[in-house]
Amino acid sequence: MKGFLGMGDRLAGKVAIVTGAGSGIGHTAAIRFAAEGAKVGCADRDRSGLDETMEEIKSSGGQAVACQVDVTDENLVDEMVAETTKAFGPVTVLYANAGIAGSGNAKDITLAEWDKVISVNLTSVWLCSRACLPGMIEVGGGSIINQASVGGLVGVPGIASYAAAKAGVIGLTKQMAVEYGPYKIRVNAVCPGTVPTPLVEKTYMANGGFAATAEAGTNPTYEELLEQSLFRYPIGRVGMTEDIAAFALYLASDESGWTTGTVVPIDGGMTAA
Ligand SMILES: NC(=O)c1ccc[n+]([C@@H]2O[C@H](COP(=O)([O-])OP(=O)(O)OC[C@H]3O[C@@H](n4cnc5c(N)ncnc54)[C@H](O)[C@@H]3O)[C@@H](O)[C@H]2O)c1
Repeated sequence: MKGFLGMGDRLAGKVAIVTGAGSGIGHTAAIRFAAEGAKVGCADRDRSGLDETMEEIKSSGGQAVACQVDVTDENLVDEMVAETTKAFGPVTVLYANAGIAGSGNAKDITLAEWDKVISVNLTSVWLCSRACLPGMIEVGGGSIINQASVGGLVGVPGIASYAAAKAGVIGLTKQMAVEYGPYKIRVNAVCPGTVPTPLVEKTYMANGGFAATAEAGTNPTYEELLEQSLFRYPIGRVGMTEDIAAFALYLASDESGWTTGTVVPIDGGMTAA
């Protein structure tokens, strides 16, 4: 993602970790956070994606460190926080964004598929918080942004494990907001609607997206499925990674100093319809 207008200072003095920084929403958010003055720990299991994000941040004069990590591994998550802290000081912003698609109905998915999606999309969110909370408590505050989904708010066909994981992220967010409010640590959940990324392509091609008109045997392309899903979105378009990164930036900044425990759909009106 290129094209943010110059550097700002909305995150000056912050040390942020963005997980899933090698692609999609996390890629855009890491670049946006750095462009606003944060020093960013970019975390992902995918080395080449991480390298691209690092290159964009560094070529724009931003500061970042790459952490190649599987966020379901508690030791690697602890190392990610230690590496970022060593490079820049205590982490004060965590954007727990990494996630995978989870396709399949409750009747059909296997236990292994269920466990994998819960592990990457929910357990990792807790592990990242657990690793960052002591440092945030020590420095007197922080902001945790958890990536949920509209799929955690309303029923969406074909994504049983994903919906359960994202609803779990919402519950964890509220619990931590209450628990750590007294430490001036804010915890909020973001619920994006459809933002075309590799994760969405995988989900749509497995499930037929939100299409009302896809007929059996027509084999619509990904682009056709996206087009057909537009009836779900009153704003008349699907999302862009910038739409989500902009809101995460607000939550990361001190502008949202009295905002905690919220669960905010960024979805072009999908869940209002
Ligand atoms: N794109 C959407 O429409 C949409 C909607 C709602 C929620 N979300 C959520 O947004 C987040 C980002 O998704 P995206 O659409 O940008 O997807 P993406 O596939 O473009 O990016 C996800 C990134 O997470 C990384 N990742 C996955 N598993 C990991 C692991 N175990 N350890 C470390 N890194 C890992 C991947 O390598 C990838 O770089 C996810 O949590 C997703 O569920 C996306």
